[in-house]
Amino acid sequence: MTTPIYYVNAEPHLGHAYTTIVGDALTRWRRLLGDDVTYVTGTDEHGLKVQQSAEAAGMEPQAFTDEIAPKFAALWDRLNIANDDFIRTTEPRHKAAVAELLQRCYDAGDIELDTFAGKYCVACEEYYSDEELVDGDRCPIHLRVTEYFEEENYFFRLSRFEDRLLDWYARHPTAMTPEHRGNEAIGLIKSGLRDFSISRTSLTWGVPLPWDETHVAYVWFDALTNYLAAVGFGDGTDRYRDWWPVDYHLIGKDIVRQHCVYWPAMLMSAGVELPKGWAIGGWLLSDGDKISKSSGNAVDPLDVIGDVGLDGFRYYLLADTTYGNDGDFSYEGVVSRYNADLANNLGNLAARVATVVAKKCDGIGTAPDADSALAAAAAAAYEGAAAQWDVVQPSRALDATWSLVRATNSHLEAHEPWKSDPGPAVDTVMGDALEALRIVAVLCSPAMPDIAQTLWERIGMTGEVADQRLPQAAEWGQYAGGATVTKGEPLFPRIKV
Ligand code: MSP
Repeated sequence: MTTPIYYVNAEPHLGHAYTTIVGDALTRWRRLLGDDVTYVTGTDEHGLKVQQSAEAAGMEPQAFTDEIAPKFAALWDRLNIANDDFIRTTEPRHKAAVAELLQRCYDAGDIELDTFAGKYCVACEEYYSDEELVDGDRCPIHLRVTEYFEEENYFFRLSRFEDRLLDWYARHPTAMTPEHRGNEAIGLIKSGLRDFSISRTSLTWGVPLPWDETHVAYVWFDALTNYLAAVGFGDGTDRYRDWWPVDYHLIGKDIVRQHCVYWPAMLMSAGVELPKGWAIGGWLLSDGDKISKSSGNAVDPLDVIGDVGLDGFRYYLLADTTYGNDGDFSYEGVVSRYNADLANNLGNLAARVATVVAKKCDGIGTAPDADSALAAAAAAAYEGAAAQWDVVQPSRALDATWSLVRATNSHLEAHEPWKSDPGPAVDTVMGDALEALRIVAVLCSPAMPDIAQTLWERIGMTGEVADQRLPQAAEWGQYAGGATVTKGEPLFPRIKV
């Protein structure tokens, strides 16, 4: 599983956190299924944009990137991201992989010298044709005025790959998800592919071409190769095949062309297997604009965590936006979802169960009914969640999980155990609720690892919720009873707006 590697020209913001948290949750879900996952993220440190930012800061590019890259790593620690690697494009292992991939494509005859002139957006690190530009000379993504460049470049002969790419995608129709984003990539290929420039002589901040050191590799050829570099491509062995091909490249909709058109063509040229999948996300918007440094509306994730907690923040990002669509970020949105789904729903259920168990069952958890009406709700929640995580739809997976939370609250309201005298009937209803909470803890753990563990312990379970294995852990009837149930502080204190 991979995230894009983020440009170090800016401090990490909410937009970066979004993609990284989606990848983290997906990684954790796969680990619950028993899959062996390596989750890779990192930083994209070469190119004109970074060089210019370093100059503006009065620093050498290496010193500049050495200062920013750790801020990304520190944020991922703070956000409890379970990445196994953090690759920087300035590392020797990355440079070796870029040289290897370039050489393979050059040897295949797909890289040739040519002259290029065109309008270039430094923010995208991309040339645009006149038809693509907005208002004459503005880039369609950033609406920034593009710059005219003319230089002798090496080109990757992308135009030769049109048919091969269309054929490959026809044979792998579910490789790109969601479908509407994948269709955009197919549309790009069908509208005709232009060769793209892969080198610069005007730039020094990059990886030199192995056969012509007067050129350095252009950012996208360099950056995309990180995915192979991270698993050992270019180290002189075939070790990378242990992990390659990647199951999912998680990317934003802004970098579909490079990931779903350039990258597979580069891999075909180099004789490397294509990725198994791409999961393409939309943007988080703030007042209708993409959250980014250039829009000036970058939100610091740490500001939000202060109010709703880390897991409340993670839950919001995963649950509030349908992956693939744009989502609107607002502080009011964070608080209202937190109050509705977490404070009033899951938090309230956990507190209610602990209170009634304390009053009516001497604080000791009781066993569920094997034939409880909730058993079917639990099975449906697991199946729904599994199907949705499988197609990279965290919001729908969490909604399926919350269907069990809602069913359990309704079950309690239907039986009103708080009104009954202690006895077998109350014990069974509470056992059902505890068993449902056990399953909810497992199913919500990819989104909220810490809260899930707390919930797990409060209902008297031992060990790590992350060590549970699905589908077995979702099977009804495993809550044994006999352990102490603790109420503790509210899991999600309600926030007054
Ligand atoms: N460095 C390139 C990617 C190279 S990958 C081989 C790059 N970096 S970036 O930092 O500008 O953005 C990378 C990704 O961050 C986007 O594709 C997207 O996944 C994520 N996001 C950045 N801003 C975002 C939002 N406002 N909303 C959601 N995701 C966003 O492009």
